[in-house]
Order: sequence, then C-alpha cells, then structure tokens
Amino acid sequence: MEYDYQVSNQVTLEWVLKNMPKFLFPDLAKKKDRIQKKMIGVVATHERTPVGLLLATDDNSGKNFRIHSFLVHPKFRNKGIGSAILDHLEQYLFKIRGENVDLYYRQHWPFTPYLKKILERQGWDIPRQDLIIVKGDAINVNKLFMHKQIQLPESYSFTPFLEISKEDQAYILGRKKRENWYLDYLDPFVQPETICAPASLALRKDGHIIGWVISHLIAPHLNEFTALFIDQQHRPYKQAHILMREAITRQQQAGIRQFLITSKVDNQVMSRFLMRHADETEVFITQSFYTKKSLIE
Ligand SMILES: CC(C)(COP(=O)(O)OP(=O)(O)OC[C@H]1O[C@@H](n2cnc3c(N)ncnc32)[C@H](O)[C@@H]1OP(=O)(O)O)[C@@H](O)C(=O)NCCC(=O)NCCS
Repeated sequence: MEYDYQVSNQVTLEWVLKNMPKFLFPDLAKKKDRIQKKMIGVVATHERTPVGLLLATDDNSGKNFRIHSFLVHPKFRNKGIGSAILDHLEQYLFKIRGENVDLYYRQHWPFTPYLKKILERQGWDIPRQDLIIVKGDAINVNKLFMHKQIQLPESYSFTPFLEISKEDQAYILGRKKRENWYLDYLDPFVQPETICAPASLALRKDGHIIGWVISHLIAPHLNEFTALFIDQQHRPYKQAHILMREAITRQQQAGIRQFLITSKVDNQVMSRFLMRHADETEVFITQSFYTKKSLIE
C-alpha cells in the first residue's frame, strides 16, 4: 500500500483537537492551555485519509525538540508507518539544524514495547527511568497512615500553603537563592492557579516554614501531588508521613476522591511507602521513561 508523509511546522493543538482528536496519544487535551505555540506535525496519509500523526515542539532555541504525541491508526499498525513517521521527523529536524529530539513514555502503555523497538532501531539512547507514578483512592490509602501512633510534635504546625504570608514566601525564596534549599522540581510556586487549596500545606517549626506538600487539581476528582519537601535537619521519615497524611485527609474531607503522586526516582519517600502497601490499598503503579537522540553525532 502507498502512504504519503507530510511535515508542517504550523500545526496547532487546537486544530488537532478539533479535526484529528483520535490521532492523539497520549491525550493532550489536558495540556491545551500549556501547549499554545505552533507545533511540528508529521502526518501519514493513505488515499488522502490520515492514518498516523506525530506532534513535536521546540524549546525556543531551535535546537531541542520534544515529541508529545505519536499514534498510528489501529488498522494500519505494524506496517512500518510509525517508523517512517519518526524517520520523516528526524530528517526534517536535521535539515533545520536541530540538535536533539526527546520524548517521555510510560511503562504501562499497551504499545510501549513497539515504541521501544522503533526507537532502538533508529538509534535512540537507552531509556532512563524518570518518574514513579502512583494513583489511588484517598479513602483506601488513608487507612494506612498511623493516625494514633504518630502525632505531630508540639512545636510543629500546618498552614494551608495558599495562606502563607509575603514574608514566608520571601523566606522560602531567600533560602533557595542563598543555599539552594530545595531541588528545582520541588518548587512550591509553580502553576499557582491549579493548586489544590485544601491539600497543599506548609509545615512549620517554631513558626518557620520547614517544608511543604503541594498538590494540583488536574480533574474534578483527581489531585496530583507534585512536591513534598522537608528541610534536611527535620527530615526523619515521620514528618513526611504526617505531612502526607494530613494532605490526603484534607483532600478526602474536601470530597476529592483520587490522588496521583509523581515523584522523581531519586526522591520517592512517599511513593516507596505506598508501593510497599500497593496490594492492600489497590494503588496503581507505573513508571515514566525518558529517551533522546542526538541529531548531530
Ligand atoms: C507506537 C506506534 C505509533 C507504532 O506505529 P506502527 O506503525 O505500528 O510502527 P511500525 O510498524 O513502524 O513498527 C512497529 C514495531 O513493533 C514491533 N512489534 C510488533 N509486535 C510487537 C510486540 N508484540 N512486542 C514488541 N514489538 C512488537 C514490530 O515488529 C515493529 O518493529 P520492527 O519494524 O523492528 O519489526 C503504534 O503502535 C501506536 O499508535 N500505538 C498506540 C499509541 C502509542 O503507544 N504511542 C506512543 C506514544 S509516544
């Protein structure tokens, strides 16, 4: 069968959502507000009908590119179309002097083994593990926390993160600047508009902020925990346990059923705890992987 491939750097996500929504994987509808710029699209067609689509963006430098979505229509899989789409993208990026192209994928996607095979054959780097992702019901997990045995010591207290003062904010940012207090991805000030107010808390000791847990409402019943940080000096496991317990309790009280925790593989206090109890709490666990290809070697 004959297939045609077309590359355009003028594709918008809005247009794809309207005209080819079934050709998105993963579903980028949630990212509609975050991806507003023009994308690079590679479309495969058979007798003028689309059979596959890949979408990528650049990081504004014109050198680094990321694939956000890649799908071949189920009836047309395993015919080499996916490989050809990727090849067309790589050739196009090479032509415009791109240097790197990368993507993230998740372990549990049904077609991950196929994707890995294509990437491997086209000379992409060996994938590295990036995130551990745990999803579950607040009510099930809440049973795990040792509500009676572990209590917050007297000099500690919680404040809803959205209610911290300007001075508190300046204190956090000042320590970040002076001593690089927390890792960049634990920044509590990212995307404040979606912060879940009841389940985002600052932890204080003697009035000073020493940690936080931040979560974002990504769907009406789904709250994503994005940052859990406790100052090194106050870091026995207990504090993280109590902070997380309080946030999940407040989430449940606010009527938000599910939670999602995404943690970097090197920072997984909470996911490790939940993974140990996965069977009894029916949490779903997966991992994300990152891989890239250099176009200039
Ligand atoms: C991933 C996807 C785009 C690949 O498209 P495709 O047109 O089927 O890809 P190709 O035909 O070029 O290649 C498929 C490869 O998978 C291999 N494959 C087939 N069955 C397989 C299996 N059970 N396990 C592992 N690999 C398998 C094929 O042998 C082929 O590799 P080869 O050419 O080295 O033999 C397509 O499967 C898809 O749309 N999946 C759903 C969406 C998705 O997961 N997208 C990835 C998001 S980043």
